[in-house]
Amino acid sequence: MAKDPVRVLVTGAAGQIGYALVPMIARGVMLGADQPVILHMLDIPPAAEALNGVKMELIDAAFPLLKGIVATTDVAEACKDVNIAVMVGGFPRKEGMERKDVMSKNVSIYKGQASALEQYAAKNVKVLVVANPANTNALILKEFAPSIPEKNITCLTRLDHNRALGQIAERLNIPVSSVKNVIIWGNHSSTQYPDVYHAVIDGDKPVRAAIADDAWLDGEFIKTVQQRGAAIIKARKLSSALSAASSACDHIRDWVLGTPEGTWVSMGVYSDGSYGVPAGLIYSFPVTCSDGVWSIVQGLAVNEFSRKKLDDTAEELAAEKQLAYLCINE
Ligand code: NAD
Ligand code: LMR
Repeated sequence: MAKDPVRVLVTGAAGQIGYALVPMIARGVMLGADQPVILHMLDIPPAAEALNGVKMELIDAAFPLLKGIVATTDVAEACKDVNIAVMVGGFPRKEGMERKDVMSKNVSIYKGQASALEQYAAKNVKVLVVANPANTNALILKEFAPSIPEKNITCLTRLDHNRALGQIAERLNIPVSSVKNVIIWGNHSSTQYPDVYHAVIDGDKPVRAAIADDAWLDGEFIKTVQQRGAAIIKARKLSSALSAASSACDHIRDWVLGTPEGTWVSMGVYSDGSYGVPAGLIYSFPVTCSDGVWSIVQGLAVNEFSRKKLDDTAEELAAEKQLAYLCINE
């Protein structure tokens, strides 16, 4: 029997990531090749015509799984009954801008859209915040949508996770599918900590032993992953889009359909105090997912080198939270 369609909201759908993301969703990349979808696309009035153009292209592509399209500039209509919300709408960082510069523009959007989701979305809506500052936007959304369970509000650090897998695979000249269990801790920013102490290749061989170059692993590797967003902006004069869209699909797919046995992924989730991370921050942890629920992987050893990096990125998030509230109360 055919499954009922799932309603997926993409905000900022007329933007770069939106343009890459909506065809992936309509092709089943996010929720599976047997899962029909109804796409809800939101953008702001100046982008209404472009949004309509995206809708026209979706119709022209004749995706068999796409059972309906809502393209609107009305946030209530966009959020109505959605099961999944991918929050991409906002202002991206331009060359030379720090992520904090985009904060004041974006947190007030997330405060407003929190209320709309709370009022109009399906009760068990799963939310993924992509727009920067992603962790802090997700935190604001959580705080201003108190009736949405905190377990249902996450942010995207899967792109950083995938970037770390990619760097290891390039270095060892092996397929990226042979590498697993890297971890991104903390903020989706240049203080994030890409940790390979528990990462393996080919099922069980430690990455650190395979690479056998601690200086590279503790230096250039970490820096490359931390700075990859800025490097893409420098190269494209636009921020990452196809990789962000693809990673957003990975995030939701694993959350809804489950992570493979023995594999974890990185997700920005509500901290319960695990690993000494202050409770209440939206912080990237290693997680496994089953039956639509994520759980933080427990019991991983954290050495002194890693401890400092976990704490530094937590500190940045605490400062961002303060700044976000200042922006909101201005
Ligand atoms: P973009 O400027 O191309 O698109 C953003 C879209 O959002 C635009 O169409 C704009 O009109 C729309 N928008 C603005 N305010 C809105 C509102 N209140 N409601 C709905 N839509 C609104 O930007 P992009 O390149 O698609 O990037 C989108 C966001 O994603 C940026 O904040 C960017 O920094 C972030 N990003 C995050 C990651 C990550 O890994 N977390 C990766 C790449 C980009
Ligand atoms: C990215 O990681 O590519 C994005 O978050 C863009 C940015 O501002 O770094």
